[in-house]
Amino acid sequence: MKRVFNFNPGPATLPLQVLETAQKEFIDYKNTGMSIMEHSHRGKDFEAVVNEADTLFHELWNIPSNFKVLFLQGGASSQFFMVPMNLAGDKTVDYISTGVWSEKAIKEAQILGKKVNIVADTKDTNHNKIPKQGDLKLTPDAAYVHITTNNTIFGTQWHYTPDTKGVPIIADMSSDALSYPLDFSKFGMVYAGAQKNLGPSGVAVVIIREDLMEREPKTIPTMLKYSTHAKENSLYNTPPSFSIYMINLILKWVKSEGGLIKMEERNQKKAGMVYDAMDNSNGFYKGHAEKDARSLMNVTFVLAKKELDDVFAKEAAAAGLVGLKGHRSVGGMRASIYNAMPVEGCEKLAQFMNDFAKKNK
Ligand SMILES: Cc1ncc(COP(=O)(O)O)c(C=O)c1O
Repeated sequence: MKRVFNFNPGPATLPLQVLETAQKEFIDYKNTGMSIMEHSHRGKDFEAVVNEADTLFHELWNIPSNFKVLFLQGGASSQFFMVPMNLAGDKTVDYISTGVWSEKAIKEAQILGKKVNIVADTKDTNHNKIPKQGDLKLTPDAAYVHITTNNTIFGTQWHYTPDTKGVPIIADMSSDALSYPLDFSKFGMVYAGAQKNLGPSGVAVVIIREDLMEREPKTIPTMLKYSTHAKENSLYNTPPSFSIYMINLILKWVKSEGGLIKMEERNQKKAGMVYDAMDNSNGFYKGHAEKDARSLMNVTFVLAKKELDDVFAKEAAAAGLVGLKGHRSVGGMRASIYNAMPVEGCEKLAQFMNDFAKKNK
């Protein structure tokens, strides 16, 4: 068997141990004579999976007991409309625009006719930075402040939690969920599509403060109300059971690796290797993000000699480093190095970058 180092932005690499466990249990889940995919979602075996995942989320991420963990469908993209539908009411909603995904969230709130205030926007520098606290023109009694904690395409990440003076923060953490400890006291809701740090595609995780669900208008469809799923333990309708099972395996893996403090340490080490290769290249590689906004999850850089982009991607792939081509909004390369990317993957990439720069300078 030959596994490559997979730098794709999502769906992304998963821990080998998790894949091996899933493989072992695939046909006969815990001596039940069937796969977990074939179990009824109403049966005790699957319910135990949901409950274990819920408990592990609370434990690993230190989530207070007044927050509910929900497993929903429709991707993180459906949260772009579910958030304003359920939580905005008639109040102004504040959005901080730091990339394509923030823009998409803003668009959905606007489609719904909400009073959207764009608190800060980094578009004028092609989203290469994160606004400072002093740049945020917050609405004092906004329904919420929406942020994208990690900008998957541009490779920037918030390294502080903005002070919103008690207004709940709603955070799209699709590309950095579970990669560092979080103080939930400033957050009203956190959501993430699973396919980067949490598991395979097909499920979005929503972690919501219970009292916020009381805001929902009566007029929204049952499936689109958070309270429907909260009341039914995410089993109101048939959930994406295999994806939830995989999330549970990932959570167990994160725990066995030492939890989120260890994850963060390792993510810093990994990203450090790739950023060092970039910074020590005498301008051969140029990072897109400003230094204090650099993401630990998605490292974006361009080659000074643009004509070498394809050669870089091709030679890297031949060396077992795949999925490095950047998004068209930035160009160049993007190395997505989520929790499951081993340290050796980043070591090998940094070495490849050094060798490639020497050979082509
Ligand atoms: C930050 C962020 N938000 C939202 C999304 C959209 O997620 P989904 O494809 O699950 O709708 C992505 C996908 O890459 C993302 O990176």
